[in-house]
Amino acid sequence: QDRINIAIDGPAGAGKSTVARKVAARLGYIYIDTGAMYRAVTLSALQSGIEPGDLERLTELAGDLKIELSPGEHGQTVWLNGSDVTDAIRSREVTLRVSEVAAVEAVRTLLVDMQRQLAIRKGIVMDGRDIGTHVLPDAELKIFLTASVQVRAARRYEETKHSHQVSVEQLEKEIAQRDKMDQERKVSPLLRARDAILVDSTNLSIEQVVSQIVELSRTKM
Ligand code: C5P
Repeated sequence: QDRINIAIDGPAGAGKSTVARKVAARLGYIYIDTGAMYRAVTLSALQSGIEPGDLERLTELAGDLKIELSPGEHGQTVWLNGSDVTDAIRSREVTLRVSEVAAVEAVRTLLVDMQRQLAIRKGIVMDGRDIGTHVLPDAELKIFLTASVQVRAARRYEETKHSHQVSVEQLEKEIAQRDKMDQERKVSPLLRARDAILVDSTNLSIEQVVSQIVELSRTKM
């Protein structure tokens, strides 16, 4: 059996990372969370007091960052210049600013280069917004994973409710806003690739989505 690359794109909260991680585990593949990379750059910018709109400083900063991903116990451990930032990149502050940083072309060029390097040897499940359209246009299997914005907000709420930070209504607004920014940016917007298979997870369990993708992948090997 030949190893293939699988691209999973879609809007925020559709379950991409959970699904991608499980598909990778099932196939013995490596999972790569590209959103974590954009989050790491955002975290670093915020820590250094650099505004996402300050293109010059942001570009300089991104060029100096060392971002590494390693398989962790619950998904992926993310390292930024040698520090574990796995939890820090999920903060609300980072989540609210990441789409601004991700709209900067120079940042994308750097990260896309890294992502392509990681996928050269195949056997990769990569999730993001522009994987099927731009990062890995030759991926053997492309999935566009969506769900209604209400369901996506409700799932996020379940994940984060222990912290009681925001209401489900507020989460829904923030998710819709992030999707809009990701869809409307000039560089590699969130878009379903023409050859991507649409999977709507609104009424599906994670397990159902995972099996569907694993089955599809077998037809491509
Ligand atoms: O996947 P996640 O929600 O962690 O992604 C965070 C943000 O990173 C997205 O809202 C988007 O702005 C950006 N992103 C991107 N391209 C990718 C992955 C993520 O622009 N391939």
